[in-house]
Amino acid sequence: MNVYLDNGATTKVDPMVVKAILPYFTEKFGNASSAHKMGKESRKAIERAREIIARKINAEPSEIVFTSGGTESNNLALRGAAQANAHSGKHIITTKIEHHSVMRSANSLIEEGFDVTFIDVDKDGFVDIKKLEKEIRKETILVSIIHGNNEIGTIQDIKKIGNLCKKKRTLFHTDTVQSFTKVPIDVKKMGIDLLSISGHKIHAPKGVGALYVRKGTKLKHRFYGGPQENKMRAGTENTPGIVGLGKATELVVKKELDKMESLRSKLINGLLSIKDSKLNGPNNGKRLCNNVDISFKGIEGESLLTYLGSKGIYISTGSACSSGEEGPSHVLKAIGVNEECIMGSVRFTLSRFITEKEIDHTMKHVKEVVAHLRKVRSVK
Ligand SMILES: Cc1ncc(COP(=O)(O)O)c(C=O)c1O
Repeated sequence: MNVYLDNGATTKVDPMVVKAILPYFTEKFGNASSAHKMGKESRKAIERAREIIARKINAEPSEIVFTSGGTESNNLALRGAAQANAHSGKHIITTKIEHHSVMRSANSLIEEGFDVTFIDVDKDGFVDIKKLEKEIRKETILVSIIHGNNEIGTIQDIKKIGNLCKKKRTLFHTDTVQSFTKVPIDVKKMGIDLLSISGHKIHAPKGVGALYVRKGTKLKHRFYGGPQENKMRAGTENTPGIVGLGKATELVVKKELDKMESLRSKLINGLLSIKDSKLNGPNNGKRLCNNVDISFKGIEGESLLTYLGSKGIYISTGSACSSGEEGPSHVLKAIGVNEECIMGSVRFTLSRFITEKEIDHTMKHVKEVVAHLRKVRSVK
């Protein structure tokens, strides 16, 4: 039995999504900017996807800009908003637990003369709203805070943060790459100005995403070229990808999210029954319904990943190598996890395709492998 539990990294494309997008490769392949029938067919499909995504977050279709994914959306949001609003101030606030696409966009702005504050989070990864309020200055032009954390699953109180930013008259961007479709989002009620989405985390193809840009928000475009996407993102639209993103958004139903959450809780409880284990991130309703991040004392997450991989169970770690990063997780460091527990951390991320049988199979193998690795270590 193969069990794929790395859905935080990427997901399989839903067969229904594949079915919906196939005609846009081979039959309905017109350029959405072309004036003929085939172009119009593509345009119509793109506009339908735009409506679906807008409706999901209570936005207007004209406020959705299609991009190549979460990384581009985050770059466009941070760098675009900073450069277009620099005349009002050069201060930006973000957190120490952002995805690298936000963190490194912020770092690039420091090199260009912006001042960036990376605020701390508590032991479960939550931003303290009072501390955030104290950091907002007259010259703060943008606050960027991740909604659902990709490593530890923490779901921030975006509504409180958004409304604070509104009160303080600063733009608010949130990276919802992991939370979009899993947690209800209402950009109006939550005071969100910019919001990033990625297709491949929700069973759409890789290489497509979106940025919600509240009407009237000033943003400097990144690419030079045609007038596509309301002049915010030049380049011929990825019609199959966009159709897939719309379809994947449409396919999410609450019943499946509830099932995922209950299997997620079962996995957490099962793994916490292993001696010397510790859950990273919150253990309540404020955790993404598909995320389990856990540290096993005395073992290397990398070894656990390799052993489980040899049994057909696919996960990721918070240590260096498998994530392709240079060092141990900055997110686990930010919530105060010690070096040993960072090295012993692994992440299991579920999808709505996961079954109870697969969760039981995984728990059984994790228990065996952890016991084995600890035994080998004690013999050494
Ligand atoms: C929270 C978060 N933001 C942004 C991204 C980047 O998205 P993409 O892979 O679509 O560029 C990821 C991907 O892992 C993510 O988890």
